[in-house]
Amino acid sequence: MGFDNDVTNKLGIDLPIFSAPMGWVARPELVAAVSEAGAMGLVPGSLPVDVVRDDIRRVRDLTARPFGVNIPIAFAQDPSIVEMVVTEGVRFVTTSAGSPARLTPALKDAGLTVYHVVPTLEAALKAVDSGVDGLVVEGGEGAGFKSPHEVSTMVLLPLVVSRVDVPVVAAGGIADGRSLLAALALGAQGAQMGTRMLATTESGVHPGLKQAVVDAREVDTMMFNRTVGRPMRVLRTATATAADGGDARPLLAEVRRTYDDGDLEASLAQLGQVAGRVDDVVDVATLLARTVTELEDAAASLSSFVRVAVRG
Ligand SMILES: Cc1cc2nc3c(=O)[nH]c(=O)nc-3n(C[C@H](O)[C@H](O)[C@H](O)COP(=O)(O)O)c2cc1C
Repeated sequence: MGFDNDVTNKLGIDLPIFSAPMGWVARPELVAAVSEAGAMGLVPGSLPVDVVRDDIRRVRDLTARPFGVNIPIAFAQDPSIVEMVVTEGVRFVTTSAGSPARLTPALKDAGLTVYHVVPTLEAALKAVDSGVDGLVVEGGEGAGFKSPHEVSTMVLLPLVVSRVDVPVVAAGGIADGRSLLAALALGAQGAQMGTRMLATTESGVHPGLKQAVVDAREVDTMMFNRTVGRPMRVLRTATATAADGGDARPLLAEVRRTYDDGDLEASLAQLGQVAGRVDDVVDVATLLARTVTELEDAAASLSSFVRVAVRG
């Protein structure tokens, strides 16, 4: 199946799917597996710049296919990350969590393709003004840091698509072919998966956390930080419930005990509502092949339903 659109053509990928740039989760093995399968693996740039450089080099050892790097502007630990990704020959960057006007000109001058992650229409319009090549439009049901407005993908995606003329990739709530089809129907040209990719064989986290994703219901996430800065969506655990969605920072200091050691109560695990639809831990190649089959099946049954409904 050939997905021939602005996202796949410009980025040189076969499948219009990004894996989310998840710190300590999207290790090079996951990023490379996604790229090897024809989609877009993204290296998280939230880690120390030396770690990010090593990750980029390791991904390149593992695959010759295109991959990208995310720079979370507010959290990037060292401003030299921009120079580093350019020097390392990275061709695609997504920026998030901050004003794209700060980094886009330097990245574009160096010849990179830049997509910016946005949670509102206003942010989308500003990003387009700053010269980005595309947008990742992320609904409030997704994992991780969120806008205080928490607008859902279902509302935000078609709204942004109707007001911009750059390619849009949907994020938040997408975990399979049926939800990818919905994103395409709403006007996206691709989708980014976070929560779903966390529960893959190649994901860098402890098996206990992957199992927690499989076990989670759609109601088992909660928001933190609502009163102290950037809200974030995490797995609802006893620790998270006791902390009552307050300041996540003290707990996040122990995040590697949760991600690496599987101690779910030591810290907070970023997770999206779509965990309620994740039923297995599966390798990336199987997941992506299955997603394409599901997409084809869902599209075929929908189009025959619509044809019958409209024409009788
Ligand atoms: C563990 C984890 C870490 C994340 N870290 C980042 C990050 O550093 N930068 C970023 O832009 N998005 C980050 N995200 C958000 C994802 O990029 C993605 O947009 C989101 O997970 C999509 O929603 P979904 O979880 O419903 O698929 C993270 C998500 C998870 C699960």
